[in-house]
Amino acid sequence: MKVRVLFSPNNHEELYFTGKTSVVIDVLRATTTIVTALKNGAREVIPVATVDFAMKVSGNIFSGMTLLGGERNTKMIEGFNLGNSPLEYKEEVVAGKSVILYTTNGTRAIVKAKFSENLFICSFNNLASIAGHLVKLNKDVEIICSGTNGFFSLEDVVCAGRLIAEMQGLDERIELLDSARASLTLSKSFGKSIVKMLKETEHGKLLQENGFTEDLNYCAKISNIDLVPYFTSGTIKKLDLTDSDNAN
Ligand code: MLT
Repeated sequence: MKVRVLFSPNNHEELYFTGKTSVVIDVLRATTTIVTALKNGAREVIPVATVDFAMKVSGNIFSGMTLLGGERNTKMIEGFNLGNSPLEYKEEVVAGKSVILYTTNGTRAIVKAKFSENLFICSFNNLASIAGHLVKLNKDVEIICSGTNGFFSLEDVVCAGRLIAEMQGLDERIELLDSARASLTLSKSFGKSIVKMLKETEHGKLLQENGFTEDLNYCAKISNIDLVPYFTSGTIKKLDLTDSDNAN
């Protein structure tokens, strides 16, 4: 089982992901928000790559059952129900709902990898569940760091490295490609305090300037949510961990 880390989704075409087992990470904040929404009972999260498409999809679905969420420049988009703070995706808000989510980098990375055979969503919050599931699948893995506008984001790579460490703890035979070895080293040097690391990243600083400091504390929690979100037929759902045969 080989593991590779892509430091940006932008260096590859959609077809690169065909048939692969992929994991998308956008710690701040798209994948943390998706994990939270599903944990709090959202029926599904529909990731979209443009605001126009988000509007179109929401218009087509029975009103009252859908919520439109996401951000532009970290803030809620006009006409949307929710922004991209995971703290907004509370049970009383999302339970039973389909959430259509547009974010600048995270949901676009997911849409880019849509041809993957298996496509999972990872944050620090559900890291152990994803590691366990990947080891069980025993297939080569592409870990996609969403980054920021095509640039490297330290928080995503540190999360990738931590995911790899967790996988190695479960199966020491895992083969790390160069990008995976580099991510592991970065996660060891920058990951001693996740919350400190997040607060010092470029995007972490922007979120603090915009009043989202609490989000950083939330996004820094490690493996507090036991959940494997997987992408299938255009939507992200929660994998039933008692019957994981439906996502391999
Ligand atoms: C993104 O997808 O670019 C992020 O999730 C932005 C954010 O912090 O809301």
